[in-house]
Order: sequence, then structure tokens, then C-alpha cells
Amino acid sequence: MKIYSAPLQGYTDSAWRAAHRCVYGDGVDAYFSPFVRVEHGQVRRRDLADTMPTTAYTLVPQVIFRDMEEFDILVQALVDQGYTRVDLNFGCPFPPQVKHGRGAGALVKPDLLAAVAGRMRELPQVRFSVKMRLGMDDAHQWRASTEALAAMPVEFVTIHPRIARQGYKGELWMDELVAAIDILPHPIVFNGEIVDIQDIDRAMAIDGVCGVMIGRGLLRRPSLVAEWREGREWSADERLCKLCELHDMVYEQRRERLQGGEAQVVQSMHTFWDYADGQVEHRRLKAIRKANSLQRYFEAVNMLRRH
Ligand SMILES: Cc1cc2nc3c(=O)[nH]c(=O)nc-3n(C[C@H](O)[C@H](O)[C@H](O)COP(=O)(O)O)c2cc1C
Repeated sequence: MKIYSAPLQGYTDSAWRAAHRCVYGDGVDAYFSPFVRVEHGQVRRRDLADTMPTTAYTLVPQVIFRDMEEFDILVQALVDQGYTRVDLNFGCPFPPQVKHGRGAGALVKPDLLAAVAGRMRELPQVRFSVKMRLGMDDAHQWRASTEALAAMPVEFVTIHPRIARQGYKGELWMDELVAAIDILPHPIVFNGEIVDIQDIDRAMAIDGVCGVMIGRGLLRRPSLVAEWREGREWSADERLCKLCELHDMVYEQRRERLQGGEAQVVQSMHTFWDYADGQVEHRRLKAIRKANSLQRYFEAVNMLRRH
């Protein structure tokens, strides 16, 4: 059973991943990068900077594409960076991507998927995986792509059992997940709403699941995997103390990367707290979110350390 850190655009950047690995240890088997994309015919430079190879933790870069041209550009760039693993995004529901046929939009294009399966066979040196939803506006839609998906020589398929129209809320289509586990020949990784230790156990107990991928649950409670591996829940104090350590490391790395643009650094750190409800008192979070200078920001963050 593997435990993976999900890609979250704007959150799980290289600063967060490196800091998470350093503060919480090696419980996460691999971190998946937010999707790398093509912009104006080239790989977005910012994305490539974020996937600079590292030996500090296992990173699986993820790509999003609308056709074989983009697929080839992206995979070649990652192979050139030295990667031998690539994850394909067939789940993103963001309208700017979907309307161009990327993410969940690609999942409902069986011809594209068949072409991708063919190209994968020409690249035996690359270990591919897929991350998908069940469809765009119907949870049965993936079934029309079964043949092409089944033909893909991928290590595993991660399924977030929602449709694109749902975004990140609402019912998880568990029956349809079970059908996918039955029908697809690949090992399946479960992704969706894992927020506590029991959720990890429950997901791992699903017949045919070979691992779990955790997104927002790991932002909300970054110690979650460490706690599961240790087999005990940490105290609130322990969690807060480590959360502050994580914060400080992420801050240092983003400050270096953003090279001193104070407003930009503060803004980038506000997102760090987006999912911290429940871990941090509401009024303290409010103060952090209101802070618009570095000094005020640190005054607000330092209040956490005194409690
Ligand atoms: C803000 C945000 C950004 C995301 N970015 C990506 C992404 O770049 N690639 C991807 O495959 N999924 C992305 N996702 C989806 C997550 O990886 C995950 O599938 C989803 O949040 C459900 O898992 P969770 O309930 O554990 O968070 C994103 C989700 C959110 C909320």
C-alpha cells in the first residue's frame, strides 16, 4: 500500500514539498507535482522550475495536455530533466483547461487516449501513471474510454471518483469506483476526502485499491501520514508546533524564490493557511489573513507559537 501526496496547483509547490518531507519525514512514498503545461508552444518555464529534479524526496511530475503535440513536448522536457516517471492529468475540472480538451476534457476523447497509449509503448523507459475523474458531467462517461485506458501500459491509475461538474465537493461515486476497479486492468489508487487516520484505513480496505493519494487533507493536517505510520494521533500542541516549523521552511524557500518582493511573499504565504481551519483557532487565522505587510504577518503568525 502506497501513500501519495496529491498535486494541488498553488499549494504543493517545490517549497511545500521539500519542507513537508523535511518536517514530517519519509512517510509519503511520492509527491506529485501540480500539472506542468504548454504555453505558447513551449513548456511553461515556471512549471519546469518547480519540477527541478531533487534527491530530497520522490517527485512524480504531472502533465496536462490537449493533443499529442503537447504530450510530446511535455514528456520530452521531463525526460530531458532526467525523469523516468510521468503522471497524466485526466481529471482537472478547471474550465480554462477543460474547454481546450485538457484534464477531464481529455478523458472523454477515446481517440486521443488511444494515441497516448500507442506513444507510451514507444517510450518503455518512462513509467507512466494516470490520474482521472469519472467523467465531465456523468459518472459513467469514463466507460466510453475503457478500451483506450486499458491499453495504456501504466503503473497505476489514481481515481478521484467525482465528475468535473462537481469540482471538489459533493458525492463520491463509490459504486462507479468499484466498477472501474473491476473493469480496468491496472492497480487503482484512491483519491478523495481523506482527512483522518480512519479514512486512510477505510480507503485501503477497498478491494483492489493499491494505495491512497491525499490532497487537501494533507494541507489541513500535514502530519496525517506521519500519524498513520506511527499508529497514533498527535496532540494538538504537537501538530501546531510542527505546522509552525513547516510554515517557517516554506516561507524561507518562497522568500528566496520570490527574491524579496515583500507583498508577493506575504500573498504567497496567505495560501499556506487556506486549509488550516480546525488546526488553528479561527481568530488567529483571521489575523493572519488580514496582515498585509511582512511585519504584521509575522506578528500574527508568532501569536500561534505563544499558545
Ligand atoms: C486548489 C486545487 C488545485 C489542484 N491542482 C491539481 C493539479 O495540478 N493536478 C491534479 O491532478 N489535481 C489537482 N487537484 C485535485 C487534487 O489533486 C485532488 O484530486 C482533489 O483535491 C481531491 O482529493 P482531496 O479530497 O484529497 O483533496 C487540485 C485540487 C485543488 C483543490
